[in-house]
Amino acid sequence: MSYHNALRKALICTSVIFHTDLLRLTSRRLVWTTKAQSLTTMATEQDECMGSVKEQIAKLFEVSLKVTVPNEPDVEPLVAACNGKFGDYQCNNAMGLWSKIKGKGAQFRGPPAVGEAIKNNLPTSEMIESCSVAGPGFVNVVLSKNWMAKSIQKMLVEGIDKWAPLPPVKTAVVDFSSPNIAKEMHVGHLRSTIIGDTLARMLEFSKVKVLRRNHVGDWGTQFGMLIEFLFEKFPNFEDAAETAIGDLQAFYKASKQRFDADPAFKERAQQAVVRLQGGEDKYRRAWAQICEISRNEFHKVYQRLGVHLEEKGESFYNPYIPGVIETLTKQGLVEESQGARVIFIEGVNIPLIVVKSDGGFNYASTDLAALWYRLNEEKAEWIIYVTDVGQQQHFDMFFKAAKRAGWLPHGDSSYPKASHVGFGLVLGEDGKRFRTRNTEVVRLVDLLDEAKTRSKAALIERGKGEEWTEEEIESTAEAVGYGAVKYADLKNNRLTNYTFNFDQMLNDKGNTAVYLLYAHARICSIIRRSGKDIEELKNKGTLILGHKDERDLGLHLLQFAEVVEEACTNLLPNVLCDYLYNLSEIFSKFYSNPECKVIGSDMETSRLLLCEATAVVMRKCFSLLGITPIYKI
Ligand code: ARG
Repeated sequence: MSYHNALRKALICTSVIFHTDLLRLTSRRLVWTTKAQSLTTMATEQDECMGSVKEQIAKLFEVSLKVTVPNEPDVEPLVAACNGKFGDYQCNNAMGLWSKIKGKGAQFRGPPAVGEAIKNNLPTSEMIESCSVAGPGFVNVVLSKNWMAKSIQKMLVEGIDKWAPLPPVKTAVVDFSSPNIAKEMHVGHLRSTIIGDTLARMLEFSKVKVLRRNHVGDWGTQFGMLIEFLFEKFPNFEDAAETAIGDLQAFYKASKQRFDADPAFKERAQQAVVRLQGGEDKYRRAWAQICEISRNEFHKVYQRLGVHLEEKGESFYNPYIPGVIETLTKQGLVEESQGARVIFIEGVNIPLIVVKSDGGFNYASTDLAALWYRLNEEKAEWIIYVTDVGQQQHFDMFFKAAKRAGWLPHGDSSYPKASHVGFGLVLGEDGKRFRTRNTEVVRLVDLLDEAKTRSKAALIERGKGEEWTEEEIESTAEAVGYGAVKYADLKNNRLTNYTFNFDQMLNDKGNTAVYLLYAHARICSIIRRSGKDIEELKNKGTLILGHKDERDLGLHLLQFAEVVEEACTNLLPNVLCDYLYNLSEIFSKFYSNPECKVIGSDMETSRLLLCEATAVVMRKCFSLLGITPIYKI
C-alpha cells in the first residue's frame, strides 16, 4: 500500500475498521473490530474511531509500520502509555524490527533510524501534538491538549459508556460465590462474591451478556446424612424444618457426629443418598427444604453487598453427566484406573477422576457437564471461575481435559476460553486464617454488619447525627462499610493473601474506600458550591487543559478506557483500584494548586467541567467495583 493510500485511510478513520488488511490481524483484534463495527453502523466517522487512546494511537502506528516496513506485514504495533517527560505514549517497535530486518538489505542503519522512519510515516492526526525519537528508537507521542479536552467534554455530553471496552465475546459465564449448602459460607466465598461481582460488572459495562452463576454445592453424599438426621429429629419436618434446623451449621455438625458415631445411622444415610438420587419424593422434598434454608442465609450476604446471582447449582447439571461421560468415553478419553474411570492429563501424574469406583459422580464430573452446558446450551464464549487458588489444580486439569475433548481450543488466546480466577487467603491480624474472636467460624453477615456499625459510629462521631436524617446516616454507613470491605479485598492483587483489618479498611486516609468516597463527595460539593448548572456547562462551556496539572488530570481521565480493558482482559480488579486511587491523588494535586483555583477564577467553567469529569469517572470506577458512591460528607 502506498503511503498516500495508507494516510488517506488513516485520516478517514484512525481505526481503519473496514480495511481488508485488518483481516491479517490477530483474531482478538479482528473480533474487537467486528464488534465495534456492528455497534456503530449508524455512527458518524468520529464514533467509529472509538477505542481507548492507546488503541487509537496503536492504529496510527499500524499505518506507519506498514509504510515503513512494507515487507513485514504482520508487525503488531507495541504501544504503551509512558507518562514520561518525552511524551504520553510510546511506540517500541524499532528495536524488534531492526533485529528482524537487519542484513536483509534494509535502508536503515540501526534502530534509531527505524524509529525515525516510523515517526516520519505516522499519519497526521488531530490527536497528536508532536512526536520525537529517543534513545535506541523509542517513538514518543505527545497528545494534543485540544483533542484531549474535546474528548473529555464529549464523554461528559454523551456519557461514559462511550468509553467502554469492546471485548471479543458476546456471552460470558462468571461462576462465582458458589458456597455449599448446609455448610458455612466462609470468607473465601466472600472473596469470590466480591471479585466475581466486579468482573461481571466490568464485562456488563463492556456490553457482554453475563450469566452470573452461583454454582452452589447442593448435591453430594452429605445430603444423605442431613436428610436422615432431619427425619430422625423432626418426623414431620415439613412443618418444623425452618425453625427446627434454625442454625444449619449446628445441624450439620450434629448430624455429622451422629454419622460418625453410629454405623446403623451411617448405613441409613447412605441409603438416603441413593433414594434422593433416585428421585424419591419425600427425599427430594427434604433436600429442597434444606437448600432453601441455606439459600436464605446466603441471600442475607448478597443483599447487603448488592450482589445479584442466578443459582444453577451442581444438581442442575446432574442429568447431563452420563451423556457427557459417554461422549468422552467414545472419544477414547476416559480410561479405567483402580476401579474408577479417569481422564489422564499430560504433565500431571494423577488423573482426573470422572466416575468414582462406587459408580458415583464427583466435583469434576459435575464441572465437565456444566462446562459442556455453558458452551453448548448457553453459548458462552468465556467462562470464568472465581475460587481460591487451592482449586487451581482442579481447574487446570479439567480445562486440559476439555481441550483434549476439543471443546476448547488449545492455547489461551482464542475463544471459547475458560479462565480460573484464583485468589489468596483472608488472614487475621495474627497472620493465620481469618477467624473471629470467640467463635470458630466467621459469620459473614455479622462481619458485614460490624463494618456498617463501625462506619455509622464514625459518622455520629463527626457530628452527622445532628445534621443528617436517620435514613442518610444508614445509607451512608452501608455505602462506606460495605464499600470498605469490598475495596480492601479488591485493591490487592487477588493472588496474594490479604489481612482483614477493620481499622485499616475504615481509615479515612490512605488507599481505602472511605478516603475515595470522601474524595468523590468533596468534588460533588465543589460543584454544588459553585451554584452553576453543570448540565448546562457541559453543553455550553468549554473545557481547556491549560495548566500542567489540568493536563495531567485530563490524561489520566482519558486512560480510563484502557485501564478497564486491561483489568477486564487480565481479570485483575486491582488494576482498576490503582487507577482510581491515582485519579484521586492527581485530582488533589490539581485542586490544591493555587494556580488552578476553581470557584471564582477566570477558568471556572473549564475547571468545573474537569471536576465533573473526575466525579463521573470515579463514579464509574465505584460502580464497576460494586461500591455505592456518596455525594456529601
Ligand atoms: N462450591 C465450591 C466451593 O465451595 C466452589 C464451586 C466453584 N465453581 C465450580 N464450577 N467448580 O469450593
